[in-house]
Amino acid sequence: MADCVIIRTYEHDKIERFAFESRVPVINALTDLYHPCQLLADVQTFVEHRGEVRGATVTYIGDGNNMCHSYINAARQFGFNLRLGCPGDYQPDSEILAAAGDRVQLFDDPMEAAKGAHWIATDVWASMGQEEEQAKRREAFQDFQVNEEMLAVADPEALFMHCLPAHRGEEVSAGVMDSTQSVVWDEAENRLHAQKALLEFLLT
Ligand code: NVA
Repeated sequence: MADCVIIRTYEHDKIERFAFESRVPVINALTDLYHPCQLLADVQTFVEHRGEVRGATVTYIGDGNNMCHSYINAARQFGFNLRLGCPGDYQPDSEILAAAGDRVQLFDDPMEAAKGAHWIATDVWASMGQEEEQAKRREAFQDFQVNEEMLAVADPEALFMHCLPAHRGEEVSAGVMDSTQSVVWDEAENRLHAQKALLEFLLT
């Protein structure tokens, strides 16, 4: 009876199988592998605040997770250059990374990754379903906080984004989260607008 289905789940396979059998559009509202709707909102937010995203330098700091993979795909789709700072044991999927070619650069040092960025994004250290790994991850990610020191090496006009909910004092300092360069509330609002536009695009 539905004209469109939006699914949030863990295993990406499930959504692929569902979409394969479906006669109506199926939207990924987050899986373990990707979070594409968030990237529509993030790109919209950058365009609203700064204009052209093509050619911009974007930095993602943190877990090589669903958000990171969608940043990689967005770099390909929207033509920005992505610098990744991910801890050794938390690198993105190598095939997703390889498919992006030289659009994406990996850095061991998060400060190096942040240099010159027009837009810095991060995500929680332990995603949904990884709550038991919280302590271990806190240790692995301790040098990967987006804070004032990191923002200082980015472009002076750099925007800060986060898919929320954020943990102040972990992946982002309270100062950066609440700074004038943070656009996290516009970004959250834009989920609504970007997903309405996605529905319109798919249904018309
Ligand atoms: N990586 C996070 C994104 C939340 C919007 C998670 O999967 O929980």
